[in-house]
Amino acid sequence: MPDTLKYIDDNKNRFEEELFNWLRIPSISTDSQRKDDIKKAANYLSDQLQNVGIDEVKIFETPGNPIVYAEHSGVGSDKPTVLIYGHYDVQPPDPIDLWDNPPFEPTVVDGKLYARGSADDKGQAYIHVKSVESVLKTHGELPVNVKFIFEGEEEIGSPSLVPFLEEHKELLSCDMVLISDTSMFAEDTPSITYGLRGLTYMEIEVFGPNRDLHSGVYGGAVANPANVLCEMITKLKDENGVVQIPGFYDKVIDLSDEEHEEYKKLPFDEDAYKKELGIKKTFGEKGYTTLERASGRPSLDVNGLWGGYQGEGAKTVLPSKAGAKVSMRLVPDQDPKEIARLFESYVKEITPDYVTVKITEHHGGSPAITDMEFYGMQAAAQAFKEVYGKEPLFAREGGSIPIVADFKKILGVNSILMGFGLDSDAIHSPNEHFHLKDFHRGIKTSALFFEVLEDYK
Ligand code: BES
Ligand code: MN
Ligand code: MN
Repeated sequence: MPDTLKYIDDNKNRFEEELFNWLRIPSISTDSQRKDDIKKAANYLSDQLQNVGIDEVKIFETPGNPIVYAEHSGVGSDKPTVLIYGHYDVQPPDPIDLWDNPPFEPTVVDGKLYARGSADDKGQAYIHVKSVESVLKTHGELPVNVKFIFEGEEEIGSPSLVPFLEEHKELLSCDMVLISDTSMFAEDTPSITYGLRGLTYMEIEVFGPNRDLHSGVYGGAVANPANVLCEMITKLKDENGVVQIPGFYDKVIDLSDEEHEEYKKLPFDEDAYKKELGIKKTFGEKGYTTLERASGRPSLDVNGLWGGYQGEGAKTVLPSKAGAKVSMRLVPDQDPKEIARLFESYVKEITPDYVTVKITEHHGGSPAITDMEFYGMQAAAQAFKEVYGKEPLFAREGGSIPIVADFKKILGVNSILMGFGLDSDAIHSPNEHFHLKDFHRGIKTSALFFEVLEDYK
């Protein structure tokens, strides 16, 4: 292993350059104009996998974006097989004016790499490509069998990957999935994520009069859809942050006493948290700590709200329609489809008869939880300890990677969430960045993980 670690240090600059080139390709999955860039990003990845000396690299076309698959199974079936998952699609860079540097021109400032996709997820996914290279180049063989699956549709709900798993169960058979698409608990504080929240995402549109009306001529006589929508939204949650949709909490598994204890052990500084976010107070369900509410409890939030005049100055208008996008983060065992149905019937029930409502469901996904005792988790903990010099913490996270639940359901395997990002990396935001230090420590952690995994089975 010392030779592998030295190789990683010696090739540091080249690894970074390769990642920069990948980040220059704006592979935005929400934008249908970017299909060429999606293809380019998939091809770039497949070329890099080929250069590393992996046995088999293949691009699978799908009805959506291509899936990049690779396999290196030289050591034989008595050794564990790790399926590495990542996504090469990125979020749109908007609002673009708020970036200090162009989002698709990687820029390093104070050891931080700024670019859309640097932390979510190209930078993190590339860690494993380079760790496999480093082990192969220094040892000629890997200690475990490795498969890779990279999709280009994670940010739009993985519509092609789910059927792909169903169709290629044999090809994808493995002992565990390894994913770097989450955060560490804090800087220099590695953690293994054992729980992710799920997601139900809905849109509500409220319709009133057949055209925008003069608010002087009609105001007071006709219901204003923007007002009505706001009234409806206030009925979704009470003043303590408790969701009011009947049945919403029925399948929630309460945090156990042990979990409450685990949460307490996490070194969380509430004041620093408030300061970093520029807020006076945190808010949410009583009886739970901030960290518990942000990862171990479900939530409901308006993500976007529109209606009426938004331009400069005052235009007196009573809008004919208004709308809102609402996300609900779910915890085990809430089911995203069932929550969507409960949401829909409740919203219909609270819609007054002087407007009409349209409810649309967007993509979502199931929550997931991995048993901390699983041997892959323990191997990951050891690898982290060797590289970071401390035991990783076990923590749940509030974000969603819906495919994790599908890996369990369809392939029957656990996912090891070995994140190297930080919550402060500004993923999905302007100035997304990734600490290069953690890119390189990540490569070492991944390489060590493969080595120690052998002994854990
Ligand atoms: N990598 C994130 C999820 C994430 C971020 C998990 C930070 C834990 C910590 C992923 O790319 C993502 O953005 N997921 C979406 C879900 C999806 C269905 C669009 C999310 O969580 O909003
Ligand atoms: Mn991601
Ligand atoms: Mn994301």
